[in-house]
Amino acid sequence: MNRIKVKCPGTVANLVCGFDILGLALNEPSDIMELRLLDKPEVIIHNRDNYNLPTEPERNVAGVVLLSMIEKLEKPVGFDVTIEKHIKPGSGIGSSAASAAGAAVAANLLLGNLFSPDEVVQFAMNGEKLASGVKHADNIAPCILGGISLIRSIHPLDIVSIPSPDLFVTVVHPQIEVRTSDARQILKQQVLLKDAIRQWGNIAGLVTGFMKNDYDLIGRSLEDVIIEPVRSILIPGFDEVKKQCKEAGALGGGISGSGPSVFMLSRNEKDARVVETVMKDVYTRIGIDFNTYVTTINKKGVEVVSGE
Ligand code: HSE
Repeated sequence: MNRIKVKCPGTVANLVCGFDILGLALNEPSDIMELRLLDKPEVIIHNRDNYNLPTEPERNVAGVVLLSMIEKLEKPVGFDVTIEKHIKPGSGIGSSAASAAGAAVAANLLLGNLFSPDEVVQFAMNGEKLASGVKHADNIAPCILGGISLIRSIHPLDIVSIPSPDLFVTVVHPQIEVRTSDARQILKQQVLLKDAIRQWGNIAGLVTGFMKNDYDLIGRSLEDVIIEPVRSILIPGFDEVKKQCKEAGALGGGISGSGPSVFMLSRNEKDARVVETVMKDVYTRIGIDFNTYVTTINKKGVEVVSGE
C-alpha cells in the first residue's frame, strides 16, 4: 500500500473523575487524513480546512509524530499528509489526538505494521506533548482503539479497554478557546487526602458501573472534586449547564478533556436530545455561540476509509 485514507474520531478525555487516565471515542465529529509514502525521509503537510494550523512538521501535531517514526526507520521513507479537520482545535474533544493518532496508525499501516500497537500509541503521544506540553494517552488510546480506555500507566504503557453499555453522549462546544497547556497550568500540584479518597472511589465506581451496565452507579461516580472546581471557572455557564442537564435526565457529565466543551452521558437517545435542548437554551441565553453533537461511543477507533 502506497496511500491510505483514515477517519480519526473525536474523544472525551478524563470522563470527569479520571484525569489523564480515562477517555472514550465518539462517533461524531471525526477528522479525515490521507497519507502517501515518500522515498525521502521528510514530512510534507497540507491542510484541507480553515484552521490555519502550522504546516512545518516540527510545529504540527501529526508532523512531530511522523518525524519521530521516521527516526526509527532504517530505510529512507517519508510521508505526504493531507489533513481535513472537522474537530475544532482547542475544543476539548481531542482534536490534536485525532491528528496524532491518525498519523501514527496510518503511517504504521503504510509501513506494513512495522510497529506494535503500544509503539503506535507512544509515537502518537509525541503529538500530545507538542500540543499540551505533557505526554498523556487519555485521548490517544480511545482514538486508536475505540470504546472506553483506562490508561493505568504510561511508564510503562498499560492500557486497558473497558466494556460499557450503549451510552449516548451529548456535547456542547461553546465557541471559546481553552488551550490545554493553560488549563493544565492552573491546576494545583497537591491534593488533600480526603479529596483523593473521594476521587478514587469515583474512578473505581465509574469503571465498575461501565462493566456492570449499572447506570445509577455511572451517574453517581461522574463527580470530580479535584480538577473541575479549578477548571470550570474557564467555562462560562458551566455550573448552570451541568445542573440543568442532570435535572433533565442526563446520568451526569462534566468538562470534556480540558474544555471548553461539556459532555453529558445519557442512557437513551431521547434523554440525550432533551439534554441537547437544555445546553442550547443555556448558551443562547448567555449569548455565546456554540455547536452541539448527540452521538454514541465509537467502538472502532481510527478506521481505514480507503487504501491503494
Ligand atoms: N487529560 C488531559 C487534560 C486531556 O485534561 O489536560 C486534554 O486533552
